Amino acid sequence: QHILVLHGPNLNLLGSREPEVYGRHTLADINQRLQQLATENGASCTAFQTNHEGGLVDRIQAARDDQTDFILINAAAYTHTSVAVRDALAAVGIPFIEVHLSNVYKREPFRHHSYLSDTALGVVAGLGPFGYEAALRYALAN
Ligand code: DQA
Repeated sequence: QHILVLHGPNLNLLGSREPEVYGRHTLADINQRLQQLATENGASCTAFQTNHEGGLVDRIQAARDDQTDFILINAAAYTHTSVAVRDALAAVGIPFIEVHLSNVYKREPFRHHSYLSDTALGVVAGLGPFGYEAALRYALAN
């Protein structure tokens, strides 16, 4: 089983970016943990981060041809703005879970709408890095 983990804009700054909101773990910490968990379960996990909307679209499209079975995506701010990311996920038809570190529902109203949620298998928000781990465990078990 091959799982693709996608991280959107500004998530490269995790660890130093608004730590009171996003915590102290870096993106490398999170990716390392996910890779370890996947390997322990006989699966593989590739992580990709970009600050560019088109980069996310390109990577999602590429998943059609690289044996990706499952996508975990934190599209970050593009969650709330991007029809293009939504359409790319629909185009490839690979099941995905939407992940947010913070609880977007207790933040500004513009974070309450997601272009992805209604086509996601599930949504995890507010559990910090554990949210990725929970989503990965689900993918591994299904
Ligand atoms: C985020 C929440 C988004 O609203 C925000 O734009 C982010 C990160 C999260 O993981 O909590 O960049 O997706």
